[in-house]
Amino acid sequence: MVWPLAPDLLWNHSFLKMFKTRSYQKEILDDADIQRDLLFQNLKELEFINKYLGGHRVSIRGLKEVLTSKTKTYSLFDIGCGGGDSLKAIDKWAVHKGVSLSLTGIDLKSDCIEYAEKNCMQHKNISFRCDDFRNSFVEHADVDVVHAALFCHHFTEKEISEFIKLCGARGAIFVINDLERNPIAYYAIKILTALFSKSPLVKNDAPLSVLRGFKRIEWQAILKESGIKKYTIKNRWAFRHLVIIYPNGY
Ligand SMILES: C[S@@+](CC[C@H](N)C(=O)[O-])C[C@H]1O[C@@H](n2cnc3c(N)ncnc32)[C@H](O)[C@@H]1O
Repeated sequence: MVWPLAPDLLWNHSFLKMFKTRSYQKEILDDADIQRDLLFQNLKELEFINKYLGGHRVSIRGLKEVLTSKTKTYSLFDIGCGGGDSLKAIDKWAVHKGVSLSLTGIDLKSDCIEYAEKNCMQHKNISFRCDDFRNSFVEHADVDVVHAALFCHHFTEKEISEFIKLCGARGAIFVINDLERNPIAYYAIKILTALFSKSPLVKNDAPLSVLRGFKRIEWQAILKESGIKKYTIKNRWAFRHLVIIYPNGY
């Protein structure tokens, strides 16, 4: 009788185990010195993915919920801004909706900042800083909103929790747009990038970043550990989580 054993057999095959816990394997993008042409191709393809697979839409839906005043000028930081495409999309939306924003992109890689500055040349209220995201508040004490797209999965739960606490202490709302660890997302992105990507970096990192992504229950645990009382976690197309974290007392 094989049938009663079938679930066990399936489980013991690493297919399902692979999605049970987060992967902490480093992506090529985490290397300190990636070749510039590889990095630039990656930033170009990330912009395409964000634009046409709904990434920007997820961020803007989140920001719509928190940028509600038409009289205030909000200071918004985009951490791990990469090629600056999220900032461009946010700025276009804000101008269209009459929301006043001062936008700052932060990235650890100077090559990303150089690329982003060129990419956002037409957008006069976007500026950039080459720095670690943990220094976001060092020169700017009054950040209203911190935004992070496809960024948190690069870090451990402890590192994310520490930053959430820092945002809370500075009174900043934290809007996170990141990947859900889901087998369909993993195989879909593996096939799509194998077929259409010109970048070895994207072919390697895109499916791996899904394995480094999160389950809803893991976000709940991170938020509990961070002492957060008010938050929302929403599932968004395609296999993204939109997490909005409010400082306590908000
Ligand atoms: C996957 S990319 C995401 C880029 C962009 N947010 C997007 O949605 O396409 C992650 C970015 O985080 C940056 N990064 C990694 N570690 C960082 C750190 N400690 N501080 C700031 N940026 C960092 C990387 O250089 C890279 O540009």
